[in-house]
Amino acid sequence: MAAAAAAAAFLLLVVPTFLSAAASPHISAVISQSGLDFVKDLLVSRAAEAIAPLEVPDIERSVSIPVIGTVDMVASGIVLDGLEVADSTAAVGDDGIVVAASLSSVNLTMRWSYSYSAWIVTISDSGNASIQVDGMDVGISMGIKNQNGSLKLFVIECGCNMSSLDISLNGGASWLYQGFVDGFSNHIRSSVQNAITSKIMEGASKLDSFLGSLPKKIDVDSVAAMNVTFVNDPLFKSSSVEFDIDGLFIPSGKTALLRHRHFGSAKYVPPLGSSSKMLWISLDEDVFNSASALYFKAGLLQRMVDKIPEQLLLNTATWRFLIPRLYQQYPNDGMLLNISATSPPSVRINVGRIDATVDLDVTVNVLDFDEIVPVACISVSVAVSGAAVVSGNNLAGRVELDYFSFTLKWSEVGKLHTFMIQSVMQILLKRLFVPYVNSYLTRGFPLPIIKGFSIRDAYILTSQSRIIVSSDVAFIGGHTSYQSQ
Ligand SMILES: *[C@@H]1O[C@H](CO)[C@@H](O)[C@H](O)[C@H]1NC(C)=O
Ligand SMILES: *[C@@H]1O[C@H](CO)[C@@H](O)[C@H](O)[C@H]1NC(C)=O
Ligand SMILES: *[C@@H]1O[C@H](CO)[C@@H](O)[C@H](O)[C@H]1NC(C)=O
Ligand SMILES: *[C@@H]1O[C@H](CO)[C@@H](O)[C@H](O)[C@H]1NC(C)=O
Ligand SMILES: *[C@@H]1O[C@H](CO)[C@@H](O)[C@H](O)[C@H]1NC(C)=O
Ligand SMILES: *[C@@H]1O[C@H](CO)[C@@H](O)[C@H](O)[C@H]1NC(C)=O
Repeated sequence: MAAAAAAAAFLLLVVPTFLSAAASPHISAVISQSGLDFVKDLLVSRAAEAIAPLEVPDIERSVSIPVIGTVDMVASGIVLDGLEVADSTAAVGDDGIVVAASLSSVNLTMRWSYSYSAWIVTISDSGNASIQVDGMDVGISMGIKNQNGSLKLFVIECGCNMSSLDISLNGGASWLYQGFVDGFSNHIRSSVQNAITSKIMEGASKLDSFLGSLPKKIDVDSVAAMNVTFVNDPLFKSSSVEFDIDGLFIPSGKTALLRHRHFGSAKYVPPLGSSSKMLWISLDEDVFNSASALYFKAGLLQRMVDKIPEQLLLNTATWRFLIPRLYQQYPNDGMLLNISATSPPSVRINVGRIDATVDLDVTVNVLDFDEIVPVACISVSVAVSGAAVVSGNNLAGRVELDYFSFTLKWSEVGKLHTFMIQSVMQILLKRLFVPYVNSYLTRGFPLPIIKGFSIRDAYILTSQSRIIVSSDVAFIGGHTSYQSQ
């Protein structure tokens, strides 16, 4: 009893903090090993370009030379060049990512000079030197955390290890060579290592600011934006990194003219291809339903229709015999249909299937001396099924009509025959509603891809309540930060 009470108290203490801490991502992006390798190659080649030529601070030393005595020596204008990456790897550890590179060819050039006092004169000389480095290993391990919904990259460890130096001096006295090598090798080595390490730290800090500056929303149109705030810390698994994103649609807050949007999104395509893709983006049902709720709330899921494929149907004369009262009250008048969703369309995703249902009120209006008079209203419940495609960096789709049911909500012109509503609705939904929905779905909405990258060879899977986009990624923008909208 006491134990149960204690457990209950414990739960009371624990549950609220657990609930508040458990942010719920609706989109997760998993970068696989091949994706990491792709990003690593991009970063390593840019780092190599950024490092060389590298200027290393001058080194001054007093070296003791047998017979001659103390000689002040300076290595100046030390420049590292000709850096070539032989090999690089990226691996995921428990708390971060480790990138290592070995450099095959590293050349240094510099000037040497020395001076010493012999009796009352000062003897000095100077010349050039070049240094060939056998090889160099460079490594960095980085962690990434979530900080206020943005990614914060920090360096756990960064190091550079140079193997032996081969120094050649041009000119100079015969005793100079050994003295220079003895006195300067280690200093040059550590100066170069420090300079390279600080360049890499600089690069990591740029990468950190880049990640930190990623937008927290992606505007889709004047109504909706996708909330791409990061939730939770990235998850480092054995050979992948998972990033969780809020992913729901939020009002875009843009003041641009409202484009007329229609019903929500729905998609499906059977799986194909291999599983070695770089990037996996999983979007749950709620993402689509949040979009649908937003467009519904914005009042955009309604439309007044005065043109349909069978235009004659929108004239009371056509209905003279079937709905005599309509014709008697409004002879030979034009008609308008107000099609409006009565609740946000709901999207359901299942293995190999995407379905959506939309509840509509179709209000029949008559145009009587320029006045719009509602005469009847039919409630229609429409079921569509869809397929998803990736088009550019967008997730797009198309739907087709599965079935629909209807009831007559009210009528001021007497009973409407079921078969008549049935055939008019069939035309309306198939030839007007579905093409209209598809005209929006073919544009789709942007997947959360960093600017400068593009999705390649994507395929789409649908599973229990989620759509998974699996793809490779290509780098298209040289200077992502300068790219305009
Ligand atoms: C670096 O040194 C190697 C070997 O001496 C040479 O082949 C290469 O051209 C040099 N590279 C640069 C950029 O000086
Ligand atoms: C080597 O020194 C000479 C002058 O002594 C200079 O003209 C030349 O440019 C130097 N070479 C290099 C590679 O620094
Ligand atoms: C996170 O945001 C809050 C409120 O916006 C702010 O007070 C806090 O300093 C931020 N933390 C960091 C680490 O930026
Ligand atoms: C640097 O590399 C050498 C071999 O090239 C190795 O023996 C040494 O342990 C390395 N040092 C570090 C700190 O990795
Ligand atoms: C976006 O998502 C984050 C994390 O779930 C949430 O804290 C934030 O309130 C959302 N933004 C809006 C405008 O809803
Ligand atoms: C269409 O019908 C909806 C609901 O039935 C109503 O809110 C809206 O005002 C109507 N639109 C027009 C243009 O009459």
